[in-house]
Amino acid sequence: MVKICCIGAGYVGGPTMAVIALKCPSIEVVVVDISTPRITAWNSDHLPIYEPGLEDVVKECRGRNLFFSNDVEKHVADADIVFVSVNTPTKTQGLGAGKAADLTYWESAARMIADVSKSAKIVVEKSTVPVKTAEAIEKILTHNSKGIDFQILSNPEFLAEGTAIKDLYNPDRVLIGGRETPEGLKAVQALKQVYAHWVPEEKIICTNLWSAELSKLAANAFLAQRISSVNAMSALCEATGADVSQVSHAIGKDTRIGSKFLNASVGFGGSCFQKDILNLVYICECNGLPEVANYWKQVIQINDYQKSRFVNRVVASMFNTVAGKKIGILGFAFKKDTGDTRETPAIDVCRGLLVDKAELRIYDPQVPQAQIEKDLTMVKFDWENPVLVNHVSPVTLNQVSIVENAYEASKDAHGVCILTEWDEFKTLDFQKIYDNMQKPAFIFDGRNVVDPNKLRDIGFIVYSIGKPL
Ligand code: NAD
Ligand code: UGA
Repeated sequence: MVKICCIGAGYVGGPTMAVIALKCPSIEVVVVDISTPRITAWNSDHLPIYEPGLEDVVKECRGRNLFFSNDVEKHVADADIVFVSVNTPTKTQGLGAGKAADLTYWESAARMIADVSKSAKIVVEKSTVPVKTAEAIEKILTHNSKGIDFQILSNPEFLAEGTAIKDLYNPDRVLIGGRETPEGLKAVQALKQVYAHWVPEEKIICTNLWSAELSKLAANAFLAQRISSVNAMSALCEATGADVSQVSHAIGKDTRIGSKFLNASVGFGGSCFQKDILNLVYICECNGLPEVANYWKQVIQINDYQKSRFVNRVVASMFNTVAGKKIGILGFAFKKDTGDTRETPAIDVCRGLLVDKAELRIYDPQVPQAQIEKDLTMVKFDWENPVLVNHVSPVTLNQVSIVENAYEASKDAHGVCILTEWDEFKTLDFQKIYDNMQKPAFIFDGRNVVDPNKLRDIGFIVYSIGKPL
């Protein structure tokens, strides 16, 4: 029986390994993590992450050929293939602060693999890492390993949160990069055989290591760039009377452009787009390519602009002040169908409104109160001024309450902001909401989930991203 061990039981490690275990009953999969609460949760009825379909997969395989454990060293030592899926956040201090990837977790995992291994292993980079990381990992492994053969592969993950299980069942492609040596090619084949249990062969792309590592950063940069492009268009739409949904539809019909990922929004969030682009920017700078670095930096600058543009629109529309006004916030997660709030635009929008002294009532179907409070009070890292980490004024929670549903959030409110596109927001009884709000009643739709004309008929003053006012 082939044994797989995955280091890191997070949003990637957990679902990815659960699907491998489901699709490959002949493989034993153990997911390990240094966090005891995370592993305890994976072994309980309350999984540590919310992801549609995940619970069924875990229930079917857990205890059969899928295991979650804190005994990191034992399971790494036993494995033939070790996936490393630890977090790789942006560095907040020291050289490259604000841009470079922090590989502390990765390096400590690699050193541990070198220490505990007694047999040959394939080590798979699942985390998103800077191009050439495999070279550094190789050095750590081979210099500490008493002659044990390690083959490093890059196998970046392309799943999106909220659709992780669907994406893993039916990926657009699986990418495997390896050394172009006989041993490297053999390792690539071994990993390919794992995926071949359910992924058609023509969808498994094999490349050299550096192409695989860079393709992951490039894919996220291209995806984020589309959103910033359409968001930049949304500002022009508002200024000219064009409708961004109509523009997206019209350009998306061109098969060279394509229709996906053209939804204008209050800004993209999530743990990876900003982090991976900053990482790309840093690599460009280190390679003497400042023009290329500046090109990609613009994608994040437009995203920051879009979030502050939204806050400014709210304040300006409500007669230039929101001080003491109640604002209902619908949605806090960075997208629908996840409870994840990492880099969610809701943090910046809420903080912007709080600085202007608004009183917020926040509702999200999946994000717990404690998480929202933590996000709003944490020190916000400013990627453009990493030295001035503390420059964003702290907010106080006196102005914030977390409520149980959208109706409670909007009761007696002067305005409502929709910040996540949860399906339930599309079918709310907006007449009831209107009746219970202060007048004039404002709606600011940061996700284009409501029909502005219908709401205007009810009596609302409506602002929707990129739509005529
Ligand atoms: P995460 O923070 O949810 O999970 C990482 C886990 O690794 C944590 O539970 C942490 O405790 C554990 N860990 C850290 N160091 C460890 C060590 N030395 N030994 C054992 N466990 C350790 O992160 P994530 O969202 O799963 O992302 C992981 C990587 O995958 C990142 O590089 C990210 O860029 C990439 N990625 C994420 C997504 C996504 O949708 N979240 C998608 C594709 C790629
Ligand atoms: C993204 C990529 O889609 C995945 O392929 C990748 O594996 C992952 O990052 C990663 O490396 O972490 P994810 O961040 O989970 O996945 O979710 P997306 O669906 O890409 O959405 C990201 C953000 O963009 C969300 O805030 C979403 O609301 C926003 N978005 C997305 C838009 O504003 N408009 C769109 O048209 C699409």
